[in-house]
Amino acid sequence: MKTVCVILLAFLSIGAASSYQIGLGRADVTGPSVEIAFMGYAQLNQRGHGIHTRLYARTFIVEDERKSRVVFVSVDAGMISHAVKRNVIRELQKKFGATYRYDNVMISGTHTHSGPAGFHMFVLYDLTALGFVSETFYALVKGITQSIINAHNNMNEGRIFLSETEIYDANINRSPMSYNNNPEQEKAQYKDNTDKKLIQLRFMDKNNKNVMGAFNWFAVHPTSMNNTNKFVSSDNVGYASILLEQEYNKDSMVGKGSFVGAFCSANLGDVSPNIMGPKCAISGLSCDPLTSACPNKDICFASGPGRDMMESTKIIGTRIYRGASKLLSTRVGREITGPVAFIHQFVDMPKQAGVYFNPKVKRAENYTGCLPAMGYSFAAGTTDGPGAFDFQQGTVSDNDFWNTVRDFIAEPTLWDKQCHGAKPILLATGRAAYPYHWQPSVVPLQLFAIGDMLMFGLPGEFTTMAGRRLKSEIQLFAKSRNNEFQSILCGLSNIYTSYVTTPEEYEIQRYEGASTIFGPHTLTIYINRFVKLLDALMRGNSVDPGQMPMNQDSKQISLVTAVYYDGHAIGSGFGYVVNQPRKYYRRGELLIVSFVAGNPRNNLMTDASYFYAERIVNNEWQVVATDANWETKFKWTRVSMILGRSEIEFFWEIPESAPSGEYRVRHRGSYAYILGGVYSYQGSTNHFIIQ
Ligand SMILES: *[C@@H]1O[C@H](CO)[C@@H](O)[C@H](O)[C@H]1NC(C)=O
Ligand SMILES: *[C@@H]1O[C@H](CO)[C@@H](O)[C@H](O)[C@H]1NC(C)=O
Repeated sequence: MKTVCVILLAFLSIGAASSYQIGLGRADVTGPSVEIAFMGYAQLNQRGHGIHTRLYARTFIVEDERKSRVVFVSVDAGMISHAVKRNVIRELQKKFGATYRYDNVMISGTHTHSGPAGFHMFVLYDLTALGFVSETFYALVKGITQSIINAHNNMNEGRIFLSETEIYDANINRSPMSYNNNPEQEKAQYKDNTDKKLIQLRFMDKNNKNVMGAFNWFAVHPTSMNNTNKFVSSDNVGYASILLEQEYNKDSMVGKGSFVGAFCSANLGDVSPNIMGPKCAISGLSCDPLTSACPNKDICFASGPGRDMMESTKIIGTRIYRGASKLLSTRVGREITGPVAFIHQFVDMPKQAGVYFNPKVKRAENYTGCLPAMGYSFAAGTTDGPGAFDFQQGTVSDNDFWNTVRDFIAEPTLWDKQCHGAKPILLATGRAAYPYHWQPSVVPLQLFAIGDMLMFGLPGEFTTMAGRRLKSEIQLFAKSRNNEFQSILCGLSNIYTSYVTTPEEYEIQRYEGASTIFGPHTLTIYINRFVKLLDALMRGNSVDPGQMPMNQDSKQISLVTAVYYDGHAIGSGFGYVVNQPRKYYRRGELLIVSFVAGNPRNNLMTDASYFYAERIVNNEWQVVATDANWETKFKWTRVSMILGRSEIEFFWEIPESAPSGEYRVRHRGSYAYILGGVYSYQGSTNHFIIQ
């Protein structure tokens, strides 16, 4: 491992901090698990019907000797919205005054595509959820806040180490045609067309004896679970977290225990976990590399490496986990020392302009940001989740029909069309304000420094090369100031603004380019802005905080219906066991039981569970698995809409590690009474024996 010679930041002549105050925390953010659309694939009919794995927020707080403090949170969520962060800050300030602010709190989504939607307060991103979903929103706000409170209440002296490893066989590039359009000399600097590096921050106690936690960054879309999945899931990276936390929290249930292990998003924009690659579903032929089209309207999607999406999730998650676990157990890497600093700025993207050196034509050109717009290829979706209409990726021409539809929503001006260059505009989201604004124009940019480590809060999904280019431009700038840093890209942080490609990838107009909303120079603007932020950070200067993104709270519309009431048949109340277990089971078998249930939306069972597999030990029931375990899942079904009746099935793959003994399954839930009020209930199955 190469040691980087650190020239101390000029503004901090107080000497390197040798230790930090460190706090780690975790909390449940699982929102409504049924009836609500998932965030990610933009499929109206992909609505939850239960939980496979619960969703968590994982936090670290680091404070130096000058009491300069930063907070980083990785959340099992599609991404983070400005409104969510704003409310988290509001909650924290009620409790802790000005300790936590926009500038020193960074919240990053893992980008799982199997969590509930409706938390953005911008039309485009809440479309599939039919508007705002307060249950999703507040589950995120409360859970993220709680994870920060947990970390805050758990601050101890500790040390930080940084290490890295490479993981092959866990990601591929899903738009290699776009990647290949980058300049040859730039591509030649990298072996692969996706980043294979996993970067780990290891948090140790002050004696460097006990490990408190580990935060890992690896670039991959959590889209091993595809757009047909209806179980809430933290996907591949969430499973990696479960495995790592189970390894270090030996006697704790999933989601409990003091060790915190996070797998955070990075420059995953064009990175797929479906490593068998795209294929035409029926014919098995290769898809067209530019358009991802198949002959005879066959659909093109990528999958693998498992036989089905559950197994693929497990395999990819396990590979990522193994890399991290090995780093953790071998304790390699270098120690991070030095001051903690941070800087933050709201940037109005369409107002940005400047001069850029175009490597293709080898001359300076003016650039400007554009009002947000989505291109035709956005509607094609990706090979991880194809779109619903007959759109193709790589579309650079428009047509009258969809232009008419587009103009009905909002008409782009001639300037908009010129500004977006190669992108034919399908949705002029920057001009669409009905019933409220469709996409943000103002983005928060954020930078943390912990010693010589820089963490970039990126407001969207950077592609592999977009991330690499940002890092290398930052490195060049730092070198020009006799500094050297190690950069960590924290994807999908603080707000969501879709994708960021390089200008060269943008020209190809695959899905990622079509979803680069501020035009061809979105990345150019970010690089310039981040360089300025780093410059100010190194000098210890403050920057103009900028104008906050607009507040649209009062305009929110919600078409999601409330739970009106739950009912049950006479003689079989809530919690009544419809299907009892058999008397005997073997390890490796699948146990299925079912109950008369209320709607899980009545109570999210935060930091608890709808189900407990329990074993009797010394005459007491001991929990062996909850609904957060990989081995368990539950599926809720409305049996009668009119009578409000529903049933819930619980599945448990009895693990090889289950001790012999006497067991039962207990279900907890709540029902909405027809005359008002929500009441809890509970039910347990007959006992069964695992032999
Ligand atoms: C999703 O995965 C399932 C297997 O788990 C497969 O049957 C289905 O075809 C996949 N669909 C898409 C669109 O990827
Ligand atoms: C950039 O724009 C300025 C005016 O806004 C103009 O004077 C200059 O010539 C332009 N430069 C290039 C390289 O197009």
